[in-house]
Amino acid sequence: MQLEEALRARIADLQLPPDSFVTIAGPADFAELSDINSEAVAYTGEDVYGRQDEAFFARIHGLGAVLMLIRVDGRAQGYTVAGPAARMAGLFADEPDKGLLFGTALRAGIRGMGWQRRVIDLRLAALFDAGFTAGKAFVSPWNHGSLRNLLAAGLAVVSHDYSYYGQHRFIVERPARGWCQTKEALQREPLPPQGGLEPHRALLAAGWKGRAVERDGPALVYGQAEAC
Ligand SMILES: CC(C)(COP(=O)(O)OP(=O)(O)OC[C@H]1O[C@@H](n2cnc3c(N)ncnc32)[C@H](O)[C@@H]1OP(=O)(O)O)[C@@H](O)C(=O)NCCC(=O)NCCS
Repeated sequence: MQLEEALRARIADLQLPPDSFVTIAGPADFAELSDINSEAVAYTGEDVYGRQDEAFFARIHGLGAVLMLIRVDGRAQGYTVAGPAARMAGLFADEPDKGLLFGTALRAGIRGMGWQRRVIDLRLAALFDAGFTAGKAFVSPWNHGSLRNLLAAGLAVVSHDYSYYGQHRFIVERPARGWCQTKEALQREPLPPQGGLEPHRALLAAGWKGRAVERDGPALVYGQAEAC
């Protein structure tokens, strides 16, 4: 099954709040997506969530990304993106069987209502329906709410990258069958700005995986796990 077809099927099964819709976006929507991105970047800062403009959306659309709009009460209130990781980001060129969750941004009016978690679950399910073996995403170590939602959906922090955005990002990933814990041992590291990134980089380089965000700190809890 193609990714867009898989997403359409999963969208049809969504249980959404009243007057809320997720639709597949096309070129006519890219200006609206860009406006939503600008509002989100103004909220987070460009170091935490990258600028995505009309040219960016047109480029990734041409590379096989599926862009979706969230409409609530007749207004475009957010967008979310999924696509083939290797085609969308050169960093993942040697991972042709994996998908990428490539951004979710919500206007202020629908934040704090669980939309991000809903569209993480939607995109992962569709990626696996379409035959991808894993779903990946970038997330800033400062974006604690987003990191919490991604890890709660079964993704784990697998590495750190600076090269793609020229900013610090964790790379999170969930294999289709999930992560199986291989050892009981856990480690806990405070997240920035309270903690530095070096201890996180060291744990990730040693094969630990970030599994959950603890509110106290807040901190990232690491475990040993392998794809099930
Ligand atoms: C990150 C983002 C997608 C989260 O989506 P969401 O559906 O609002 O997520 P949640 O419903 O889990 O809420 C996230 C947090 O914001 C809090 N929140 C509640 N109301 C809020 C509001 N009006 N505005 C902002 N945050 C609010 C929630 O309580 C929650 O905090 P908690 O985890 O401490 O309880 C959204 O805030 C956003 O668009 N941010 C800008 C772009 C961005 O960072 N994208 C993610 C890149 S990986």
